[in-house]
Amino acid sequence: MASQPTFLDLFCGCGGFSLGLERAGFKGLAAIDFNHKAVQVFQANFPNIPHILEKDLTRFSPSDLESLIGTRHIDLIVGGPPCQGFSTARQVDGANHGERLKEDPRRHLYREFLRHVEHFQPKVFIMENVLGIRSASGGQYFTRVQAEARKLGYRVHAQVEECVKLGVPQKRRRQLFIGTREDLPGYFHPRLELPGKSIPDATLWEAIGDLPPLKAGEGEEVREYDIARRIDKITPRSSRYLYEVLEVAKANKLTAHRARPHSDRDLGDFLKLKEGENSGEAIRRKVEFDFPYDKTTFKDRYTRQHRHRPCSTIVAHLAKDGLMFIHPTQNRTLTPREAARVQSFPDWFQFPVARTHQFRVIGNAVPPLVGEAVGIAVKSFLKKSMKQQKQIKFDLSPLPNSEKEAVRWIIPLLDLDSRALKEVPSKVFKQTWYSISFIFMGLHPDSALEHGKEVSNDAVDYPVVSEGDPRLLSPYYVQSGWPVVLEGIAKEAWRRFDRELLADEEFYCSDAQMAGECFRKPELLKSFREDRQSVA
Ligand SMILES: C[S@@+](CC[C@H](N)C(=O)[O-])C[C@H]1O[C@@H](n2cnc3c(N)ncnc32)[C@H](O)[C@@H]1O
Repeated sequence: MASQPTFLDLFCGCGGFSLGLERAGFKGLAAIDFNHKAVQVFQANFPNIPHILEKDLTRFSPSDLESLIGTRHIDLIVGGPPCQGFSTARQVDGANHGERLKEDPRRHLYREFLRHVEHFQPKVFIMENVLGIRSASGGQYFTRVQAEARKLGYRVHAQVEECVKLGVPQKRRRQLFIGTREDLPGYFHPRLELPGKSIPDATLWEAIGDLPPLKAGEGEEVREYDIARRIDKITPRSSRYLYEVLEVAKANKLTAHRARPHSDRDLGDFLKLKEGENSGEAIRRKVEFDFPYDKTTFKDRYTRQHRHRPCSTIVAHLAKDGLMFIHPTQNRTLTPREAARVQSFPDWFQFPVARTHQFRVIGNAVPPLVGEAVGIAVKSFLKKSMKQQKQIKFDLSPLPNSEKEAVRWIIPLLDLDSRALKEVPSKVFKQTWYSISFIFMGLHPDSALEHGKEVSNDAVDYPVVSEGDPRLLSPYYVQSGWPVVLEGIAKEAWRRFDRELLADEEFYCSDAQMAGECFRKPELLKSFREDRQSVA
């Protein structure tokens, strides 16, 4: 790995993901989006990324990109193919089902992402999406993304990120698909964290409580802002968010703090809401709104946010109206700067486009804090993986000495039920679990139990394994790649891991993976030993 790992950002929007990765120490080589306004915002904020391209990814090929950036060697590709096609809002209105599902070409954009993965073969890729992708069309897309990426030679798993756990004052939950190239030993560790930053449960007020008050329709695009004057609004908790995350000290002006105007009727209705309440709850306590409502659709029309809770998920729809984002104490909806702060964009980040576009790019973005945590996790995976390749040593025991032995160690546990598996002595269980990693280098323990329903009998031939027991190859779950017959053992491994009967390095046993790889490619071990001798 070069001293600074590199990344490409596809469907980059205004750059929430890129900003987080830069903060984690990555160097961006290119970012692509076809939306002029998004690219404009991106360009205003990333002077160090050499290629910021306004291109339609369905028409721009990975080889064109390679010629532009002058390399095929990339450590990380990230991207958020648009998610509107999967959003849960559209599932409710029926747009995610049946015939109408086929009509939305945006659902296939993940293939453009994978095309770049196939071409550049980065060490790691991360694709971000809305949670709706899990259930869209009966989970079909959720399965396809993982199965197709696995075919490209990646160890893939899917994890849900709760942004609030990383200090983002917002209820946002997102789906991440994480792929690590199969030849790199190790497992991407699923727990994202921001080392060195204490993360209290962030709330809306920490992010916006210091901002100058506004009435609906008021505010300027650029104004002076002296935070010292608002010092009485800053608490020890908000001070961490303001200085470490929003980097207020680096911004000498306050931008995009402009409230949109509202009709008198809406403003009157806003006043009827208590802090933290939505219109449905208000109706239940007999509030009468002026807006002519019908009871089924009106309940979420308005929401007044609560100061001391995480904000509702900031969405691109804010560009249309902000009615679900009414300020907790002022009679107006949130400004773009407030939305950006809730998304963890620093105050120096500029949005030099009209307000509607500001809202859209902000709502679409990966919160930079989440991007940073992802970046830190990728760096730690790359570091461990390289180290493992450079200093092959096996701490786990007992590890099988051959594939035949590994198969022999797995077979006795295949037909045990959950009760019997619980009784298996620790040493025997561990040698079985390690044997699975020894043989199946490309499977990730985290997808062992989240496998969907679709199974296939179409496994790649692996004669030593199929001679031992053909069920070790097929049927297998299409989504996770795990052979169905291993489900019981995987469940038991998870049970032992949750009860701390298996340590982290025993459950995510990259030693066993590496041992298997050295068995299949003895030259790996040989060249390593020769290296060591020549050093000695
Ligand atoms: C969810 S947003 C990505 C946000 C970004 N990851 C961030 O953190 O700011 C999806 C982006 O994909 C872009 N997009 C949609 N279709 C595209 C296409 N065919 N080619 C290039 N970009 C496209 C949209 O303009 C939008 O900015």
